[in-house]
Amino acid sequence: MTSSTRTTVVETELDLFSTEALLDPVPHYQTLRDLGPVVHMTEHDLYGLFRYDQVRAALTDWEGFSSAQGIAMNPTANELSDGSLLSMDPPRHRAVRKVMDDALRPKYVRQVAGNIEQLADELVDDLMRRKDFDGVTDFGAKLPVDIVMDLIGFPRDEQRDKILVWALGAFNYFGPPGDRQLSTFPDVQALMQYLVADATPDKLLPDSFGQIVWEAADRGEISENEALMTMSAYACAGLDTTIAGVASTLWLLAQNPDQWAAVRADPKLVPGAFLEGVRLETPIQHFSRVTTENRDVDGVTIPKGARVLVSYAAANRDERHYPEPDSFQADRNPADTVGFGFDVHNCPGRTLASMEANALFGALAKRATTLELTGDPIREPNNITRGLETLPIRIS
Ligand code: HEM
Repeated sequence: MTSSTRTTVVETELDLFSTEALLDPVPHYQTLRDLGPVVHMTEHDLYGLFRYDQVRAALTDWEGFSSAQGIAMNPTANELSDGSLLSMDPPRHRAVRKVMDDALRPKYVRQVAGNIEQLADELVDDLMRRKDFDGVTDFGAKLPVDIVMDLIGFPRDEQRDKILVWALGAFNYFGPPGDRQLSTFPDVQALMQYLVADATPDKLLPDSFGQIVWEAADRGEISENEALMTMSAYACAGLDTTIAGVASTLWLLAQNPDQWAAVRADPKLVPGAFLEGVRLETPIQHFSRVTTENRDVDGVTIPKGARVLVSYAAANRDERHYPEPDSFQADRNPADTVGFGFDVHNCPGRTLASMEANALFGALAKRATTLELTGDPIREPNNITRGLETLPIRIS
């Protein structure tokens, strides 16, 4: 594209981080996608990518769209995340990522799959007896809390219950400067204090991911700070995300009885139905990158040094890529969803999260004919994550 055909970036005052937008973001994503391939959001001086192709291209182009200055939307959070896998570019990223991939390698995760399926069966048997339950705490949260915390190695003490709350606070803290972001600093402090004082290598459960991470630090493959930040990434990225993905998928299935009937008739649809839930509700809505030089995106120049919001959530509903993007189709099987990121920083926990979700929905499909919402779900706005606080549901 020559400079004469370049288009100026479209500006908008739309604030994606207002309470109203966080509670109902989908119409805003449509507006932002329609405004152009790149949008400048003046409220927080953030450039934004909202269309599927542009989001995927930026996630691949790590040299132009760097994570090394952090992926949060404010400088303090980015300073605090220094040393985190999420805040690195290759080649350093490769070394630290290898430690995490080793810990989350499918073979190792599969060793625990038997347990996951058995626990899911027992859980759903119990829920069938109860009939009425909360889809978030009683269904979505159980396996991450019972299994993933053990896998990560967090000591089995009363502190454990607080990790989910601290992690949600940490996600809020990743948002642009503002009250919602500032008010959650105590959660960030509490999580870091817990990791430094309570989740130390001598207290972590044996054979856990945490032990693998600290052994890599002992061998000098990663620094102590990188080990600490990796533990923080597990706590933040590995728990609330899975809970949100599972509870949101349950919500969508309950709203679409024909789709639940299809899953029950053909349980092979279960993995794709979970991906469809992740696509539509996208537990991590967006992170950001910083441009290392002027970058052209479909004829629009993003200047060097700009912070660019990369919206997995808006991309996942882009009608340029997904036909009828707002409908839940259990047989769509959107394996190419960017809900787990893409390329260099793609989610290393995708296998584990899918394994938990597939076990839960597989167990449910064998037993529950109907899923009925018995009240309105409650949602707490969060700068980064989208999930439910409560989901009153009845099964039979
Ligand atoms: C439904 C569940 C999950 C969703 C939707 C999800 C989503 C994501 C996304 C969007 C990214 C990309 C970040 C980027 O582009 O910068 C990511 C990365 C990451 N996820 Fe997940 N995640 C989930 C589950 C998990 C689990 C279970 C774990 C660990 C036990 C985990 C650990 C991580 C880590 C450590 C990264 C950073 C990878 C890197 O920077 O190379 N996630 N996740």
